[in-house]
Amino acid sequence: MTENRQLCIGLSLSATWMKGDGWRRPDSGVEKMGSIDYYIDLAKIAEKAKLDFLFRADYLYVSPQMLGDSANFGSPDPTMIFAAIARETERIGLVTTISTTFNPPYVVARQLQSLHWLSNGRAGWNIVTSIEGAENFGDFPMPSPEVRYAKAMEFTDVVRKLWESFPNEAIIMDRESGMFSERDKVSSIDHSGEFFSVKGPLTMPAHKSGSIPFFQAGASDTGRNFASTVADAIFAAMPDLESGVELRTDLRKRAKEQGRNPDAIKVLPGLYFFLADTREEANELHKTAHAHLSMERRHASLQSVLGLDLSSFALDHRVTADMLPDPNQPVRSRTHAELLRRYITNNQPTAEEVLARPEVVGSAHWVSVGTVDDVVSDIMERFEAGAIDGFIALPGGSEKSMELFFEKLMPKLVERGLFRSQYTGVTLREHLGIT
Ligand SMILES: Cc1cc2nc3c(=O)[nH]c(=O)nc-3n(C[C@H](O)[C@H](O)[C@H](O)COP(=O)(O)O)c2cc1C
Repeated sequence: MTENRQLCIGLSLSATWMKGDGWRRPDSGVEKMGSIDYYIDLAKIAEKAKLDFLFRADYLYVSPQMLGDSANFGSPDPTMIFAAIARETERIGLVTTISTTFNPPYVVARQLQSLHWLSNGRAGWNIVTSIEGAENFGDFPMPSPEVRYAKAMEFTDVVRKLWESFPNEAIIMDRESGMFSERDKVSSIDHSGEFFSVKGPLTMPAHKSGSIPFFQAGASDTGRNFASTVADAIFAAMPDLESGVELRTDLRKRAKEQGRNPDAIKVLPGLYFFLADTREEANELHKTAHAHLSMERRHASLQSVLGLDLSSFALDHRVTADMLPDPNQPVRSRTHAELLRRYITNNQPTAEEVLARPEVVGSAHWVSVGTVDDVVSDIMERFEAGAIDGFIALPGGSEKSMELFFEKLMPKLVERGLFRSQYTGVTLREHLGIT
């Protein structure tokens, strides 16, 4: 199964290792968080380990959970952060997150193409339709997921057309004839659709390295259709192996139905790991990261994810499918709600187990806790089972946990032939094997 297949690996540049009470540790380095130098240093470490790309999620609203006891510098614009990192790195890909729900496509096409130029072909776009934030963009409530995805589809189409409207070949730069650019090769797109009217062309030529890879996040039925049509990679919430196998198998099938090569879409879950020299220390790190989550907060989170209230049940009470709320009731994220519904239906867990699930205490990401060998086995298991094509590293617990990832875990993956020891290309397209 793993023959010839290599892992695709990215690093999330959000300070996940400071989550919960992690930032309060004396060695957390939290003071450095508000400076770009910190992110540049991390980018350089990731590039030294030959990671495929850096990644940063982004939200256009301030959630109350971001304030108070959690270490958070909010959401500085990730595309600007990557512009600074572009000048300090040479090979690593830079995957920025931009919402199709709140931005105009002309501005986004230009921002992304600019990052592509600044980084010499290393930009990537994580396309999100967003869950919250409508109040910052007018008086309208959040559009339904269907409307958001329909808009995202048209949005990406417009962005693509804008990139093609000013092809790189239009630049001639012929001193002798005095011809700088070939006018005929630059054309308007005259787009008129349900959501956008854009004449074009874009203000700048496309970078010579080729089109910018698309990442996507959101895995409801509509989200999967969207991903299988446009995405080169999906940032997946994958709390367990079964959900991973189901998602990857399904996305590959859908990609094939769209006439695409199933290998053209990489499934990359967030891997929230807690690494230490011993299992005891790693478990302690994991515990600390969740210590601030009282039962009250867990119940509130479960309510918000699934609309399920377990506060009147004993912790050892079994939660069964018939206790689940109506599946058609609106939820914040169908992806997260669906993951939890499936887990409850298949396992009939106790209330305590439900309240400890990654969908409830975090963002539903795959959590791996232990020594370097433990986490490597976990990665191997999911890779061999066909649940993943790689992962986006979300280092948890402490800076030491991240150091172990780069100094010990990554070399092990290289030793086992699961990851390359040198870059073989210079652009993100090349790292992702996009031809
Ligand atoms: C793993 C994951 C990461 C996401 N990251 C972001 C993000 O950084 N910013 C954002 O605005 N929305 C983010 N979203 C929300 C999605 O873009 C989408 O709006 C939401 O999941 C609803 O889609 P669904 O109906 O397919 O679940 C994320 C969703 C998932 C599952």
